Amino acid sequence: MEFRVSQVPGRTVIVLAAGEGKRMKSATPKVLHALLGRTLLGHVLGAAEAARADRTIVVVGHKADQVAAHLAEIAPAARPVLQAVQNGTGQAVRIALEAGENATGTVVVLNGDVPLLRPETVEALIAAHEQAGTAATVLVAEVADPTGLGRIVRDERGNLERIVEERDATTEQRALREVNAGIYAFDAALLREALSKLSTDNDQGEEYLTDVFGLLASVGHRVGVHVAADATETLGCNDRAELASLRALLRDRVNTAWMRSGVTILDPATTWIDVTVGLEPDAVIDQNTQLVGRTTVAGGAMVGPDSTLIDTSVGAGAVVLRTHATGAEIGPEANVGPFSYLRPGTRLARKAKVGAFVETKNADVGEGAKVPHLSYVGDAEIGPRANIGAGTIFANYDGLKKHHSVVGEAAFVGSDTVLIAPAEVGPGAYVAAGSAVSNVPPGALGVTRPPQRNVAGWTARKRPGTASDEAARRALAAQDEGTATEPDEASGDPA
Ligand code: UD1
Ligand code: CA
Repeated sequence: MEFRVSQVPGRTVIVLAAGEGKRMKSATPKVLHALLGRTLLGHVLGAAEAARADRTIVVVGHKADQVAAHLAEIAPAARPVLQAVQNGTGQAVRIALEAGENATGTVVVLNGDVPLLRPETVEALIAAHEQAGTAATVLVAEVADPTGLGRIVRDERGNLERIVEERDATTEQRALREVNAGIYAFDAALLREALSKLSTDNDQGEEYLTDVFGLLASVGHRVGVHVAADATETLGCNDRAELASLRALLRDRVNTAWMRSGVTILDPATTWIDVTVGLEPDAVIDQNTQLVGRTTVAGGAMVGPDSTLIDTSVGAGAVVLRTHATGAEIGPEANVGPFSYLRPGTRLARKAKVGAFVETKNADVGEGAKVPHLSYVGDAEIGPRANIGAGTIFANYDGLKKHHSVVGEAAFVGSDTVLIAPAEVGPGAYVAAGSAVSNVPPGALGVTRPPQRNVAGWTARKRPGTASDEAARRALAAQDEGTATEPDEASGDPA
C-alpha cells in the first residue's frame, strides 16, 4: 500500500503522531493500532492525500523508530521529523515547520488519531480556507458528548474567538458542544509567527497548537471554522473502547459503500471488511464473515457464513462456506467448506472442491479435482479431475525437510491413504483404500494393504456373555435358519 504524493506547490501536510496515547495502555504506539486493514496513521495519511501537498511531514516521538519504519512502508514519500520530548501539539508543528524548508502557502495539520476523516472533508476544508483567505481555519463538529475535546469559543457575532481545552475551560465553556476536530489549515507565514509566541501557561504546561487561533484573532487576523458534514469523521481515538466504536463506524461505512456498489451483505452488523479488500458486484457475503488484507471476491461468488479470508482471492461463482483461508487462490466455481482450512500457497483451479475438515498448504488442486473430506494436502499438486478419498494424508515432512508430491490427472486415491512424499501417483492410477504409497505408475493400482484374515468365533471365546457376543449369536442363528429354510427368498438372490 502506497500513498501517491503529487505536486501542488504551496501546500504542506503535517501529521501529528508523536504522542504515546497513554490511555491505550499499549506497548504499540497509538497511531499504529489498526482499524480494518490500516493503522490509524495510515487512515489519516489516506485522507491527507486529498491535500495534494508537495511535502508531507509526520511528527514522530514516542517509539519514533517504530512509527518511522511503518511510515517508510506505507508512505515512503512522507518525511518523519522527530519531536524528542512531546511538549504539546504547538511545539510539534513548530518542529515540523522548521524541518519543512520555508514552507509557504497552506499548511494542513492533522492529528494522527482521527482515522474516520474523509479525503473529501480535507479537500473542503482547504477550499474554504483558501477561498476565504483566512489566516487559519479549523474543522469543527457539533457533538452530543464533547468530553475531553477542545471547545470552539465564538464571539457575539459568531466569529471564532479562541479554542479552549476542556481542562482549561470555564464551566460555561465546558457546556459548549462545538468541538475542535484536530484538523486545520493555516497560512504558513502567519502560523510560523504565531507559533513563536505560544506559551505553556495552561493546565498541562504544554504548547497548544490551538492557541494559535486566539493569538491570530487577537491581533486582528481572520480565523475561520469549517463545519464537518458528518461529525463521526472528527472522532479521535484515545482508548480501546473508542477504537472499537470507531471500528464499528468504519465497518458500517465500508459495508454501505459495498452494498451501494452491488455487493450483497446479508448481515452488515457481523461482516467486517478491511478497507484494502476488493469486491465485485453480485458477490454475496453471509454473516459473521471477515475479509482481511488483500482479499478479493469476484461476482457471483458466495462467502460465509462464519468465514475469515486473509489475502485470499475468490473466483467468480465460487462457494466458500465456514472456512478459514490465508494466502489462498480459490478459482472460479470452486467449492470450499464447510470447515476447511486453506493455508498460504493453496491454489484451487476452476470447479475444484475442498470439503469438510480438509487442510491445504502449498497445494495446487486441479480443475474439477476433489478433496472432499478429512484430509491434509501439503506441498502437493493434484491433477485435474483427480479424486482424493476421505482421510488421505500427504505425509510431506520427514522430520527434517518438506517434500513435494504429485497426483496425476483423473487419478483415484482411496480413503485413508498415506502418500509418503515425495510421492507420485500417475495419471489415471488408483490407490487402494488404506494404503501407504510413494509411487504408482500411470494406470496402475497401488495397494499396500495386508490380506484380511477372519478368526471365526473369536467374540464367543474372548468376550462371552457381552452384548457383542449376544448380537453375534443371534446373527449366526438367523443365518443357520436362513440356510435351512427357503434359501433363495431369504438371501434375496434372484438366481
Ligand atoms: C487535541 C486538541 C483538542 C482537540 C483534539 C481532537 C490540542 C492542544 N488539543 O487534543 O482541542 O479537540 O485534539 O482530537 O491540540 N501530539 C504530538 N506531539 C505532542 C502532543 C501530541 O505529536 O507533543 C500528537 C498526538 O500523537 C496526537 C495528536 O497530536 O496524534 C493530538 O494529541 P492528543 O494528546 O491526542 O490531543 P488531545 O488532548 O486529544
Ligand atoms: Ca486525541
